[in-house]
Amino acid sequence: MDQGFEKIPNNWHEQMINLLAERIVVVDHDGTILYINEAYCEFLGTTVKHAVNRPVQEVIENTRMHIVAKTGQKELAALHPINGSEMIANRFPIIEDGKIVGAVGSVMFRTPEEWRMYKTKIQGLVEELKYYKTKLEKELKSKYQFNDLIGKSSTFLATKKLAERISRSNSSVLLIGDSGTGKELFAHAIHNSSMRASLSFVAINCASIPEHLLESELFGYDDGAFTGAKKGGKKGQFEIADNGTLFLDEIGDMPLSMQSKLLRVLQEKEVQRVGGQRSISVDVRIIAATHRDLEKLVEEGKFRQDLYYRLNVIKLEIPPLIERKEDIPLISQSLLKKLERKFYRKGIELSAEVEERLMRHSWPGNIRELENVLERSINVIDGKTIEVVHLPLYLRDMEPESNFTNIATTLNNQLTPKTPLPIFSLKETLARAERDAILNALELTNGNKLEAAKLLEIGKTSFYEKCKLYAIK
Ligand SMILES: Nc1ncnc2c1ncn2[C@@H]1O[C@H](COP(=O)(O)OP(=O)(O)OP(=O)(O)O)[C@@H](O)[C@H]1O
Ligand SMILES: [Mg+2]
Repeated sequence: MDQGFEKIPNNWHEQMINLLAERIVVVDHDGTILYINEAYCEFLGTTVKHAVNRPVQEVIENTRMHIVAKTGQKELAALHPINGSEMIANRFPIIEDGKIVGAVGSVMFRTPEEWRMYKTKIQGLVEELKYYKTKLEKELKSKYQFNDLIGKSSTFLATKKLAERISRSNSSVLLIGDSGTGKELFAHAIHNSSMRASLSFVAINCASIPEHLLESELFGYDDGAFTGAKKGGKKGQFEIADNGTLFLDEIGDMPLSMQSKLLRVLQEKEVQRVGGQRSISVDVRIIAATHRDLEKLVEEGKFRQDLYYRLNVIKLEIPPLIERKEDIPLISQSLLKKLERKFYRKGIELSAEVEERLMRHSWPGNIRELENVLERSINVIDGKTIEVVHLPLYLRDMEPESNFTNIATTLNNQLTPKTPLPIFSLKETLARAERDAILNALELTNGNKLEAAKLLEIGKTSFYEKCKLYAIK
């Protein structure tokens, strides 16, 4: 006997067997009944006393137990007609020291119908369970990773690096950024590279939930908390996010009364359901996001200062697209790929002029706006190239590009202190500085070369030579 089984008192064995199998019979090598339980005997219209020690064939019609006790071949889910109804039988040989010493059999369900009903019922339940499981997993698991955050500008990379570094911490994160900059994506990515990645990611949009529902949504409610409350109560998002991450989107839109309640939960790490008495402890990492100026809201008395401090442990400012214009082509490409999948298209590209216009626009709606513009364009193109005519009116009507605005943008971009200049060789650096100085001077003089030369305090010939050298027209 396996180690551990002897710990079970002998008088438990029969009860265990009867509890686990409805009708059971045990025979020896010759097919003589050694044991048969009362349920089986009752069904057969006999008694235990009468059945034991008799050949199994004499007690159970159509039995094959004596055969299994000889051949050692188990028989699973075999149909077994008894008393005019079909039973499902399982028969196993009992082996000791490599020799067949007997067999044990059990019968379940009086009819195959009963079995089919059981099967379909269970199968239905299993499928239903699978459906809800994947649905829940999809909802609770955040989708995006840091790899999905596109951009190579130094401002963006610095933010991304910081976000990656802090994802492993448990401290609250406050994501600040204009509309459409990717705050939600950052929240997902942070959760996914945290230690909580395999646990739930619950997002709640504080602006879109009616004020009177926000509390029960966040903290849940107990039985009978209000009319219409579900029987048995309901878990709140805090409880659902336990051990995972709770993403409080649009936190700047949370009503003041809720802010106090949220603060209390954050401080005490416990929630109390609406209408409930119990305190339920929760371990949740908070990521909050807003496009609003929280400091200003604090000054105006619209946002609790203490809550602001609680949330603002790690602050990440997502740069707007206008501060990382060099990312526009790359992001456009990645958005186009995404849209191609959505629209079952392939090989969509931007004309050079479109790309130039995208670079010049200020993108107040950031990446979401860019995404909308591209989606709209894909919807109206015939071929594969997005041309200016396919752009929305406000981009179509942009002033045509002048060289100087372009130069000004380049210069501005390079002069922004946030963007450290890339390192070139000294010779190239000097050449670039010289070229930039010439472009700058030309811009100031509206393209008048003589005046530009004067501004730079160099001779006319030398100025022309340098313009030729740097391909400045
Ligand atoms: N770095 C990025 N690379 C690629 N796509 C991005 C990036 N950032 C954002 N997006 C895309 O831009 C859209 C807007 O992003 P998201 O919803 O995260 O913005 P948000 O900052 O939460 O905006 P809002 O304040 O309006 O809620 C999404 O479709 C997202 O997939
Ligand atoms: Mg958002």
